[in-house]
Amino acid sequence: MKRIVILVLVVAALAAVFVAWPRAEFIPSRAQAAWAATPANIARGAYLARAGDCMACHTARGGTPYAGGRALATPFGTVYAPNITPDAQTGIGAWTADDFWNALHNGIGKEGRLLYPAFPYTNTTKVTRDDADALYAWLRSLAPVNQKNRPHALRFPYDRQIVLAGWRLLYFKPGVYAPQPAQGAEWNRGAYLVEGLGHCGACHSPRNGLGATGSRLSGGHIPIVGWYAPALDADNEAGLGNWDQAHIVQLLRTGVAPRGAVFGPMAEVVGQSLQYLTDADAGAMATYLKSLPADPAPRRPITPPPEEIMKAGKKLYEHHCVDCHGSDGRGASVAGHPAYPPLAGNGALTMTDPVNAIRIVLNGGFPPTTEGNPRPFGMPPYSPLLDDAEVAAVVTYVRNSWGNAAPDVTPPEVNRWRAVPLD
Ligand code: HEC
Ligand code: HEC
Ligand code: HEC
Repeated sequence: MKRIVILVLVVAALAAVFVAWPRAEFIPSRAQAAWAATPANIARGAYLARAGDCMACHTARGGTPYAGGRALATPFGTVYAPNITPDAQTGIGAWTADDFWNALHNGIGKEGRLLYPAFPYTNTTKVTRDDADALYAWLRSLAPVNQKNRPHALRFPYDRQIVLAGWRLLYFKPGVYAPQPAQGAEWNRGAYLVEGLGHCGACHSPRNGLGATGSRLSGGHIPIVGWYAPALDADNEAGLGNWDQAHIVQLLRTGVAPRGAVFGPMAEVVGQSLQYLTDADAGAMATYLKSLPADPAPRRPITPPPEEIMKAGKKLYEHHCVDCHGSDGRGASVAGHPAYPPLAGNGALTMTDPVNAIRIVLNGGFPPTTEGNPRPFGMPPYSPLLDDAEVAAVVTYVRNSWGNAAPDVTPPEVNRWRAVPLD
């Protein structure tokens, strides 16, 4: 707690510096005529909006797309995504292309208000001006929706602009993605999408006490809901380094692959965003991710779980799980499609933190419905059937069978997640 107070004070002091800081890095504005509402530009903007998953945040559950209202819970309070349809009073109808650019690139709203980084502008700042203009053209083409924005509900002092100014000074540097000359065009395209619009690091990077993400995709907890987004660098956790490139593309575009299926918040990312990418763009992302050097930190050795827990887990597995995941833990395909993911060698369940494996067993789930996997097979929820000790035993068992090895799971760890909402 004391550390946080000191951090807040430091941030406030830095804020004073920031207020007087010259804004030289803010790219000069461009004349209005540079953005054009041509069909090609609008279509490109629509595609980029998918890549940026703008709709997921800017739409309330059951609400009109882009009209805002979705609550984003943060450790500092709740932020509500605003209306970005072109309504003049309640949306961004009165915004120029420069205003829009200023939001995406500089994280600054219409009247100069500093925006909260729940809007991932630390990523969207990497977007080129041309792409930002295409996004603007697309949003302008939507039907305006008159829907007032909900005021944010952040706790003091996080609701102060001066604190945010300090935060930005520490953690935000505006800048369009700079292609790395040593790398090829495909790698650079992948990096542009992953680090920019895709904002993968918003979940897959660790966050510090002030909510800032690191620059590496070395794994992160999603605040409040608690899901863990695994490390994406080559050989860690999700272990993409030794996935076939084609299987990564398949996972991103269809939600299922021979090595595993997406679930929880990642199912939404694939369902609303990644499935709409071209194979070339998904392939570029895979190329980039596979090239990321793994965290050199050695993993702690794992003590094998107690035998009686493994025995109890095996019994439960053979009763409840074997029909779909198989006695060898290899899962099954149906009509040549991955249907039931393998549990053997599946990085999604052997991470040190067992939260994801516990929650999929408690809550069950479906991979997203995608063009490449139009009728996904689901997993039933076991929270009504199994008690905490039973879930702990079966999860420990699957984490330590068929060559898997991961720390055992305790009943209190299971209990902790029983009542937590999924998103
Ligand atoms: C993770 C959720 C999230 C995603 C993804 C997201 N936004 Fe936002 N956006 C927000 C939030 C929250 C705010 C409000 C920030 C504030 O008021 O300080 C915001 C603010 C904005 C604003 C400023 C609007 C205003 O009234 O001040 C614009 C413009 C915007 N977003 C456009 C986009 C576009 C375009 C995309 C896709 C490329 C996008 N956003 C993706 C959450 C998101
Ligand atoms: C809203 C949070 C969120 C965002 C944004 C997000 N992810 Fe994830 N991702 C998760 C979570 C949680 C998991 C763990 C669940 C799972 O394995 O499906 C995950 C898992 C994954 C996996 C491993 C799947 C497996 O079966 O091993 C890959 C690969 C992945 N994400 C790639 C990406 C990429 C690439 C992006 C950016 C385009 C991205 N994610 C953006 C939350 C997110
Ligand atoms: C009716 C078939 C079925 C049964 C029975 C079943 N599962 Fe699953 N399981 C699935 C499907 C389908 C998925 C993919 C779900 C998703 O992506 O949301 C899955 C996903 C998983 C995952 C996450 C792996 C990944 O890559 O998505 C784990 C861990 C898991 N199951 C464990 C179990 C355990 C333990 C049991 C028994 C208590 C069990 N399952 C019973 C069908 C089943």
